[in-house]
Amino acid sequence: MKHVLITGGCGFIGSNFVRHTLEYFPDYRIVNLDKLTYAGNPGNLTDVEKNSNYRFVKGDIVDAALVQRIFAEEQIDTVIHFAAESHVDRSITGPAEFVQTNIMGTFNLLEAAREAWLANGKTGASKDTCRFLHVSTDEVYGSLGETGAFQETTPYDPRSPYSASKASSDHLVSAYFHTYGLPTLITNCSNNYGPYQFPEKLIPLVINNALQGKALPVYGDGKNVRDWLYVVDHCQAILTVLQKGRIGETYNIGGNSEKQNIEIVNLICDILDEKVGLLADGQNRRSLITYVKDRAGHDRRYAIDATKIRTELGWTPKVNFKDGMRKTVEWYLDHKAWIASVTDGSYREYYEKMYGNR
Ligand code: NAD
Ligand code: DAU
Repeated sequence: MKHVLITGGCGFIGSNFVRHTLEYFPDYRIVNLDKLTYAGNPGNLTDVEKNSNYRFVKGDIVDAALVQRIFAEEQIDTVIHFAAESHVDRSITGPAEFVQTNIMGTFNLLEAAREAWLANGKTGASKDTCRFLHVSTDEVYGSLGETGAFQETTPYDPRSPYSASKASSDHLVSAYFHTYGLPTLITNCSNNYGPYQFPEKLIPLVINNALQGKALPVYGDGKNVRDWLYVVDHCQAILTVLQKGRIGETYNIGGNSEKQNIEIVNLICDILDEKVGLLADGQNRRSLITYVKDRAGHDRRYAIDATKIRTELGWTPKVNFKDGMRKTVEWYLDHKAWIASVTDGSYREYYEKMYGNR
């Protein structure tokens, strides 16, 4: 049995990961530590709440005593660290929380693992079987020009407070491997999409607005490029790295599916027109597209070279972009109550602040 601490398991990727792992790996006990920020929703996991291999703890990764207690109580031998402030736009208007959670929270988890696993660690777990897997982002590598792709050896060049805080956490993880021999793994993944993504991110925001006949805000010229990956493919990649990755290594994960933002927005409009019919005024949903003021420091293009994880560990994405997008739109259509529950008063306040004067 593996005793796994998942942080941020009530967020978008974390909740998909918890569900996927409990379904396919009955020998994993999962403790999910989540602070339940605006992005964390225990309702994302109601279907697994009663699973005897699952425990939820509401708490902050910055709380050292709490993290140490969980390590001891649950004999934790594996950490999969998702918890983070994850939205670039929020990092521009309020960076402090990003430094606190993404840097100090990661530091705190590393310290707890070091204390538990190394130097006659308190849990008695063997360093050979323990793993600390840190889930990070391609944004740490900066912005690409027209060609090329990020490799594991690409120098770090973060350009937003979000990516700078993630880069900083990656460096800490790497330092704990080199300095203390902590058995770490780092994954740097491209943009995810799929069920349970909070509607502040491009795809769910556009689906939600398009369903309501509201303007679809496209930053700048709409030609920034992201490399999209279906979230369950990301979860499977993380499990592959956990099970087969070489300790101390970094693995890039990507969908090999580069799209301009405007292509994504057009595609969502077309799928919705087909599935729910045109707008009340007879117009198609592309008529809602509104170009707005660009994001400050907006990275132009991301693309991942996933050769290492493919050739060393045998992972490739399974879901192609068109199928994944159709599945995603269908999920949001089938889960309107979920959207309503996460877009309450505080979401409307956020929306007004971010988009009011754009
Ligand atoms: P998310 O914002 O949807 O979820 C983050 C979760 O972390 C939430 O449940 C939140 O409540 C929790 N959390 C935040 N601060 C916490 C704290 N101090 N203590 C405990 N829990 C806390 O994020 P996501 O999109 O699911 O991303 C998960 C991880 O994957 C992040 O580390 C992110 O950097 C990384 N990542 C995301 C993407 C993407 O496209 N979404 C791509 C690559 C990497
Ligand atoms: O690349 C991985 C990263 O992907 C993760 O590390 C981040 O946690 C995740 O949020 C995501 O970051 P992005 O900034 O790329 O995602 P976002 O959905 O915010 O934006 C995607 C693109 O769409 C980006 O070029 C900005 C643009 N955009 C976004 C929003 C919210 C718009 O044009 N309009 C919008 O309203």
